[in-house]
Parts: sequence; C-alpha cells; structure tokens
Amino acid sequence: MTVIVSATLPPDLLSRVQALHTVVQVPAGTPPQEVITEVGRRAEVKGLLCTLKTRVDEALLDAFPQLKVVSNYAVGFDNVSVPVVNTRKVLVCNTPGVLDAAVADLTFGLVLCLARNLVPMHTFVARGTWKTKPAPLATDLAGKRLGLLGMGRIGRMVALRARAFGMAVSYHNRSRDTASEQSGLASYLERDALFAQCDFVSVHVPLSDTTRASIGARELGLMKPSAFFINTSRGPVVDEPALIAHLQQGRIAGAGLDVMVQEPLDGASPLCHLPNVVLQPHAGSATVETRRAMIELATNNLLDALAGKTPKAMVNPGVWAV
Ligand code: DGY
Repeated sequence: MTVIVSATLPPDLLSRVQALHTVVQVPAGTPPQEVITEVGRRAEVKGLLCTLKTRVDEALLDAFPQLKVVSNYAVGFDNVSVPVVNTRKVLVCNTPGVLDAAVADLTFGLVLCLARNLVPMHTFVARGTWKTKPAPLATDLAGKRLGLLGMGRIGRMVALRARAFGMAVSYHNRSRDTASEQSGLASYLERDALFAQCDFVSVHVPLSDTTRASIGARELGLMKPSAFFINTSRGPVVDEPALIAHLQQGRIAGAGLDVMVQEPLDGASPLCHLPNVVLQPHAGSATVETRRAMIELATNNLLDALAGKTPKAMVNPGVWAV
C-alpha cells in the first residue's frame, strides 16, 4: 500500500514501513495543500503518519479518498477534524501514555523555575549584579498548593512530583478522580475555587471547541497576585491577551508556558519580554527517549491498522469497530 510519512522517522522504523509499503516522504509540517501538490491526488494512499502540524480536514481527505488510517505522532489530535474523519470512516491513532512523565517533568521544572526565580537569578549572576547587591529572595514550594486543571494521566504525574516536594495538590476535572482523592494524592476543588485558592495553577486539558479560550480574564482575575500560571497543554485554551495583561499589571506573579497560541512564538510577542515569564518551545515531550517511544508507537499504530490488526491507541475506535 502507499503511505505518506510527514515526520522524521528513524532509519530502523522507516525500513520497517518500507519493507511493507510504498513510502512517500514529505517534510514534517508541510502544509496540507503542499502535501497534496507534492504527493499528487493519489487514490492509492491508504495511510498517513504525521505530526500536529498536518491539518487533517476535508481538503486532505478529498485528495486521498482511500485513506484508511491517520497515525498522529502526538497524543493531542487537535490537528484532526474528528467529525470529518468519522464521517469518512478514517481511523485516527495517537500516542498516549508514553509521554506523560516527560511532560510532567517539564511542568514541574516550570513550577520550580518560577518559585525559585531561576531565570532572573541566572541573569543576576551572569551580568555581575551579584557584586553590587544581594540576590532577591524566592518562594518555598513546601506548604504551597498546586491546582491542576485537568486530572488525566499527565495531571496525576504532576501531582506525584508536587507531593514529593511537600506541596498540597488540588484538581478540577469533568469527572472526579476518586482514586487520587482516596489515596491522598489530590483533593477536588470547584473550577473557580481552584483558580482562587491555589498558589500555582497548571493546565492539563486537551484543546477542543469547549476548552478553546476557556481560561480568560475572569479565571485569571480569580487568582491571587502571588500565584503562578503554568500551561504545558495547548496555547489556545488560554485567552493570551488576557494572560499578557494580567502579567504586565502584576495581577498574577508569573507564568511558565510551553505552549502558545501561535507556534513558533514571534520574538515580538510581549510574552518574550516579560521578566515574570518562562518560555519553552512546546518541548514537553522533547526528550530522546520519549520521542523515540512516541514515534515507535505511531509507527506500530500505522502498520497494525494497515495490517488489519487493532492498533494500541485509537482516537475514534468506533470507526475501527464497523
Ligand atoms: C502531544 O503529543 O500532543 C504533544 O503536545 C507533542 O509534544
């Protein structure tokens, strides 16, 4: 069968796919229209392995009408129009589980960075300011409350890290996580209370029509002026201008952001020039080990689906069942 690979596949995995299928490679992130131009409107394309940068929509599926499976090299699938793939009976796979620890590590890294002022302290030393005055004091983590908006696999891993640092953890989620509550890992708070009562609020929700811009001036306005905001999920879940305004006006203490509305972030964005912001380049899963596990799972999902074997991770299993 013919498959399009729009991701950097390690040589051993590429060989595995090539041993079974005809592979058309396009650089990761090639816009859909260019993929179509480059590959041509090909009826025989049955599989697509891609990153979040590929929009899987009507236009793409029109160009490849026989497409059976889209294997996303990501756990998120906000690049995929789910109603469209469902109508066209295209299976979508993703990479849950294997990146939870890496994303939780980065989230907690941002918590530590903000609490201990690591970036400004580095500048303080590197610019020689240390010679002229004592360093400003930072904030303890022990005894502070971390609020998790979203309590899935990643949220729980962040909670474990926070507990190891002596923090109290609360969460808000659509459904209650009774296991975490009973084990003492985290207590439940209503959504507004989470923003109002926590010293750190960390976001772990997927991007959907419901969550888009769901954190705005109202939610940020509930936060304490001493509280920090962390987002390692998706930029567009936050009303970014409202966040910038709150940071500029000192209405919250700071933010740690791995994700933004526009990625890559333009250097002219006010976020790049605020002293109370720490930025990362959407790097939650960006470790050698985690990316390998993700691309391996994405490749296996693709090959399994094309071989008629149930893939490990399906976004819309209903399509597979029929
Ligand atoms: C994902 O897998 O959805 C991550 O955001 C990619 O790093």
